[in-house]
Amino acid sequence: MDIQPGILVHSEDEFRQKIAHVRELGLPVHIDVMDGVFVNNTTWADPGLIHELAPGLEFEVHLMIANPEHAVPIWIAAGAKRVIYHKESTERDRLIFEAVADEAKRLGIAINPETPVSALEPIIDQVAMALVMSVTPGASGQAFQPAAVEKVAELKKRKPSLVVGVDGGVRPENIKSLKDAGADMVVATSALTETSDPSLTIQVLKQALGE
Ligand code: DX5
Ligand code: ZN
Repeated sequence: MDIQPGILVHSEDEFRQKIAHVRELGLPVHIDVMDGVFVNNTTWADPGLIHELAPGLEFEVHLMIANPEHAVPIWIAAGAKRVIYHKESTERDRLIFEAVADEAKRLGIAINPETPVSALEPIIDQVAMALVMSVTPGASGQAFQPAAVEKVAELKKRKPSLVVGVDGGVRPENIKSLKDAGADMVVATSALTETSDPSLTIQVLKQALGE
């Protein structure tokens, strides 16, 4: 199971600092994008600057923004390995599928804690990845909501080829339950950016996984 450091920042300077902090891990990162509308927070994330500020960085973006139809193709063009938008943020999924066309394997869809897996049923066959939120999006450092574990298992049962990730409150004490449920990836933001030694924290997370 992959662990992706999350980057949730409010300025270009903070982006540089946090990237420098986790870069030694050599892992693809998860960039949180918030618009102050879909969620009660705003982040700094500029698709035109990521490559300049962090050359060679592999990244995915998590769009917590209202009406993401325009932003999805912009981030794909900016080189994001994966672009994840929220099921709750639009009814116009079809527009997004048309816009990404051949790049559909780079598309992911996130669901909030109160959204059931069944809400993905109409589009599950069009997306390559689903991100189960284990906190209400908007901030890092919140407590993990264990109902995410069952959602992972449900999604993997419904579509075994779907890449399933989990985002929010991931810590050594819950990471193994996510792996056992079939998660392919987890995001860890505060666990890795608020520690003085991210390499040690990754080791602790891997130990908890039995790796
Ligand atoms: C939630 C964001 C998460 C967040 C997770 O609003 O989508 O990616 O950064 O932060 P932690 O890992 O600190 O809960
Ligand atoms: Zn996220």
